[in-house]
Amino acid sequence: MAIREIVKQGDEVLNKKCRPVEKFDSKLWKLLDDMKETLADANGVGLAAPQVGFLRRICIVDVGDEDGVIELINPEIIKQSGSQRPQEGCLSCPGVWGYTERPMNVTVRAYDRNGNVFEKDATELKAQAFSHEIDHLDGILFTEKVVEFIEEE
Ligand code: CO
Repeated sequence: MAIREIVKQGDEVLNKKCRPVEKFDSKLWKLLDDMKETLADANGVGLAAPQVGFLRRICIVDVGDEDGVIELINPEIIKQSGSQRPQEGCLSCPGVWGYTERPMNVTVRAYDRNGNVFEKDATELKAQAFSHEIDHLDGILFTEKVVEFIEEE
């Protein structure tokens, strides 16, 4: 495993739409393992493949609960309800914080690293994280979803 460099806001790789994963092979597993190590090192809640320079529909989420790191390949939000205005940041936008508008509940359908489809319900922070990471796969940064930026003291 290896820690990868996290791409920062301003790099155009973060504004591109990612292509679906077609091969569930050892190259994918290596990338996922590296992303997990990179996320843990950065102490983050989620990381998407474009943030380490890969334009593929892959992201991981870890809100620190019993699920551990959730790997999402070709994820789609198939259901969402409610809304929340959580505080949000992004590993690609150091020092930038704001309140965003996110769904309170989401159901995501995705593939695991072996190519098996699964569905996952999420609420609050995990729903926010799924929404944030899937946005990355469409080239959307959280700053586009901010309703109010938080000024640093
Ligand atoms: Co982010």
